[in-house]
Amino acid sequence: MSNSNEVQTSDATKLGGSFTLPGTSMTVQRVGYGAMQLTGPGVWGPPRDPHAAVAVLREAVAAGVNHIDTSDFYGPHVTNQIIRRALHPYPEELVIATKVGARRGKDKSWIHDVSRQNLIDSVHDNLRNLGLDALDVVNLRAWGDNGQAPGEESLAEPMTVLAELKQQGLIRHLGLSNVTPTQLAEAQTITEIVCVQNLYNVARRNDDVFVDDLVRQGIAYVPFFPLGGFNPLQSAALDAAAASLGTTPMQVALAWLLQRSPNMLLIPGTSSVQHLRENLQAAALTLPADTLAKLNSICAKSERKA
Ligand SMILES: NC(=O)c1ccc[n+]([C@@H]2O[C@H](COP(=O)([O-])OP(=O)(O)OC[C@H]3O[C@@H](n4cnc5c(N)ncnc54)[C@H](OP(=O)(O)O)[C@@H]3O)[C@@H](O)[C@H]2O)c1
Repeated sequence: MSNSNEVQTSDATKLGGSFTLPGTSMTVQRVGYGAMQLTGPGVWGPPRDPHAAVAVLREAVAAGVNHIDTSDFYGPHVTNQIIRRALHPYPEELVIATKVGARRGKDKSWIHDVSRQNLIDSVHDNLRNLGLDALDVVNLRAWGDNGQAPGEESLAEPMTVLAELKQQGLIRHLGLSNVTPTQLAEAQTITEIVCVQNLYNVARRNDDVFVDDLVRQGIAYVPFFPLGGFNPLQSAALDAAAASLGTTPMQVALAWLLQRSPNMLLIPGTSSVQHLRENLQAAALTLPADTLAKLNSICAKSERKA
């Protein structure tokens, strides 16, 4: 089924205003939080300071964040257990989005696995470790080109499994991660899709046309690595913009995303309360047109919007 909802946002500027996931009653602030940094190195094992991890989550929610992105393969299990410890019982308005489609090897590797059994096990792992009866949003993480970029593998079988789990009441809404427009269209013949989570930031804009299409469909676009992920964004244009506006390059990068399109939901990841505060404050930043023009020149020519 295709979604024809128009993007709904509120005028409130706090945390970038809000966005309602299409066909749902779930309205989230556009600045959320990504929980992948709340583990040890290599997204494995417990964090160095579990108390600090709990503090980051509590501060985020106290500041109004109501969209947290996670997965049970972070840790594995660790991130979800910390979320539960910090926030359970969860506030009514909190939306926790998780993802399935991989598992971790004992050697800390990431193993793509969209088998029926792994999807079922993963949903139950998320439910148990988060302490929930139903998951708000589950993204199917597709693998594509070695997990780094989307491919065109069919998602029909795994989406059918997830749609069954939704039918059983274990999942409220479904999304996709690391996918192409063709894969989205295929998934939409099976079930409603409320969000797409792909790699995108001011310097990595392969998805520009896709983002615009999702705006038209009213589907949320949730960029992962909004700050560059394991390779933090570095650019003279970001530095110059930050200096001229009296802010930080990372805040400029987040503000650029918020201004990019109304369906853009941010999930910057951090293990630091200080960085969390900076990231939330980015919503108050309005980038002037000339700054936007300079930032738009950061990305590689091959990635620029036609
Ligand atoms: N679907 C997928 O395949 C996929 C893949 C990757 C990630 N994700 C999701 O996307 C979320 C975001 O991605 P990410 O956490 O990997 O990358 P990110 O948000 O682009 O960047 C996180 C990195 O930036 C640093 N950082 C955060 N705020 C900062 C600030 N204000 N100033 C300076 N440095 C700052 C963090 O270090 P500190 O901890 O020191 O702040 C961390 O090293 C994840 O948490 C996860 O939920 C999804």
